[in-house]
This record gives sequence, structure tokens and C-alpha cells, in this order.
Amino acid sequence: MPYNPDAHRYDIMHYRRCGRSGLKLPVVSLGLWHNFGHVDHFENARAMIFKAFDLGITHFDLANNYGPPPGSAEENFGRIFRNDLKPFRDELVISTKAGWPMWPGPYGDFGSRKYLIASLDQSLKRMGLDYVDIFYHHRPDPETPLHETALALDHIVHSGRALYVGVSNYNPRQTTDMAKILKKLNTPFIIHQPKYNMFYRNIESGLTDVLKREGLGCIVFSPLAQGLLTDKYLNGIPNDSRAANPHGFLKSEHITGEAIEKVKKLSQIANARGQSMAQMAVAWTLRLPEITSALIGAHTPAQIEELIGALEHLDFEERELREIEAILA
Ligand SMILES: NC(=O)c1ccc[n+]([C@@H]2O[C@H](COP(=O)([O-])OP(=O)(O)OC[C@H]3O[C@@H](n4cnc5c(N)ncnc54)[C@H](OP(=O)(O)O)[C@@H]3O)[C@@H](O)[C@H]2O)c1
Repeated sequence: MPYNPDAHRYDIMHYRRCGRSGLKLPVVSLGLWHNFGHVDHFENARAMIFKAFDLGITHFDLANNYGPPPGSAEENFGRIFRNDLKPFRDELVISTKAGWPMWPGPYGDFGSRKYLIASLDQSLKRMGLDYVDIFYHHRPDPETPLHETALALDHIVHSGRALYVGVSNYNPRQTTDMAKILKKLNTPFIIHQPKYNMFYRNIESGLTDVLKREGLGCIVFSPLAQGLLTDKYLNGIPNDSRAANPHGFLKSEHITGEAIEKVKKLSQIANARGQSMAQMAVAWTLRLPEITSALIGAHTPAQIEELIGALEHLDFEERELREIEAILA
């Protein structure tokens, strides 16, 4: 059966401007880090993409190394794109990245011009795309001169491989330096992708100030702390959870008693707001005006549907925020 997107797909979602750029992103975007590789069920991956797009999620985030095996999330996304999503290309914002180890030898890692351009060419081939909307440098490289990485990002845009560029996991200083170089080059550097959730709040100590000053958007990854900020681990580790998945990056040792106690208390606030714990965790990341989008992961279409329910109650009362702070302290 050919895919027919929901005619009402733009009715519920909100779209926020990405920094001072012309691009708007859905406040919830879907990442393909887990559950889209060749080790996973293709039909489930396909159903998640369709569910997301039906709910107004126009932005899908990939990276060269997502799988496993590395590259397979892009291959699976490419298969779905070619078979079902191609007619909707202009309604989609597709991103990919390079920066982590991808192939053997000295040219398949970090931030050289050699690696970034070759990697993006491979990504475009795997996904069957002429261009990506956003290309990210995935992590800072302590050895390659920042100027070289910036020139590679600039070339990537001016050669038509990407419309915009971004960085991920850069600290405030590195972000400022990159913004300075790319401004001189007139490169559309529009976005940063850092980790941010109730348990990991680094961006509040300087990065959001830099993003505001530089006019950069911010898409935050792991808003659910990989599932820890949901009800699922309150009574142990379920078999079908990321922490039980041998390919998962969330390990059983991350499910600490202290974290679970906090989630139990946070859940009470969520329930009083008429939300699930997961919905409140997503809404909480979006309370900051610097955040353009919460970049969720999912394992089933139903999880995506539940998370979009967060949009019904995004605002927080001062009292709720104080209670949350007290639990997280
Ligand atoms: N730039 C970077 O360095 C970087 C690093 C990491 C991630 N990312 C990006 O961020 C995206 C999201 O990361 P993430 O997967 O860690 O995000 P997350 O939203 O914190 O965690 C997603 C996981 O939470 C669980 N979940 C989702 N909805 C749920 C619900 N309604 N109820 C209960 N559990 C729910 C699922 O795990 P179960 O399998 O347990 O159900 C799901 O796979 C990635 O796909 C990737 O695009 C970027």
C-alpha cells in the first residue's frame, strides 16, 4: 500500500524558528539513533516515520554512524524515502552528521575536510538524496584546526550538498569560535545540537547565552535521558527497553536507585499536570526560549503519539518549576 500522509498533519504541531534563520523546525523532531538499524525491524521503523510525519514531525535526524551496523539507519531511511517519502521531499528537513569513527584508517573520524566531505557523499548515497537540509559536525576535534572544519562546512553548503550547517557537542567557546569563522565566510550556520534533559543540564551554564548572542537555534537530544525520564524503569528493567537491548547505549548501571526516586517524585508533578512523565520531560526542555526543538527517540509509533501529547500542555507555572528544581537538586 502506498503511504498517504494524514491530511491534518499540520494541525497539532508547533514550529519554532531556528535561531535567526529562515528555517522553522517542529518543536518535536525524531532521531534515528536507535531502532532504525539493520538489527531492528524495518516495518516498525517505517511505521514510526509515517506516524511522526502524520503528526507534523517534519524533521528527521540521522548521522553517518547510526545503526548498527554504522550506516544502516541511513540505508533504511533511504529505502523509506525512495519508496514512500520522495513526493514529500520539500516538506522534510533531513539532517545527518559526521565526527565519530566511521571507516578504518586516518580519514574516517573527527573533523578534517577529507573526512567530512567524503562522509557526507556516502550519506547522500545511502539515503538516495541530492542534498541534506542540515549537515552537522558531530563533535569537536581537538587536533584539526577549527578553520579547516569550518571551510569544509562552507564547501559542503556551497557545493549544494547541504542547505544549512550545524555543530553538535561543542562547548560555548568552540561554538563562539565556529560562529565567528562561519560568519566571515557567509555560511548558513544555524543550529547547535547538544544533550539536554532534567538530569543533564550543561547547556544552562553558558551555551544558551552563546546561542542567543549568535542567533543560533538549538535542538536538544535525549530529552528523556534515553528513556530514564519515563515511567518505564520504576519497577525494574523491562525486557523490551533500551537498557535491556544489547545494542542500546543506555546501560543497566545508569538506572540508579537515586534516579528512580527522583523520577517517582517527578511523575507526581506530571500527573498533577495531566501529563505522563515522558510528556512532562519533553515539555520541560521546551520551556527555554533558546530551544527550537526536542529531539526524541522512539521504539514504537505509540511512543511518538504519546510524546506529541506534550504539546497540549507546554507551559509551566512558577510553582511547578520550583518543585521540579527541588527534586532535581
Ligand atoms: N548529537 C549527538 O551526539 C547525539 C547523541 C545522542 C542522540 N542524538 C540524537 O537524539 C535523538 C534522540 O536521542 P534518544 O533516543 O536518546 O532520545 P530520548 O527521547 O531521550 O530517548 C528515546 C527512548 O526513550 C524511550 N521512550 C520514548 N518515548 C517513550 C514513551 N512515550 N514512553 C516510554 N518510553 C519512551 C524509548 O526507549 P525504549 O526502547 O526503552 O522504549 C526511546 O527509544 C537520537 O535519535 C539522535 O538523533 C544525538
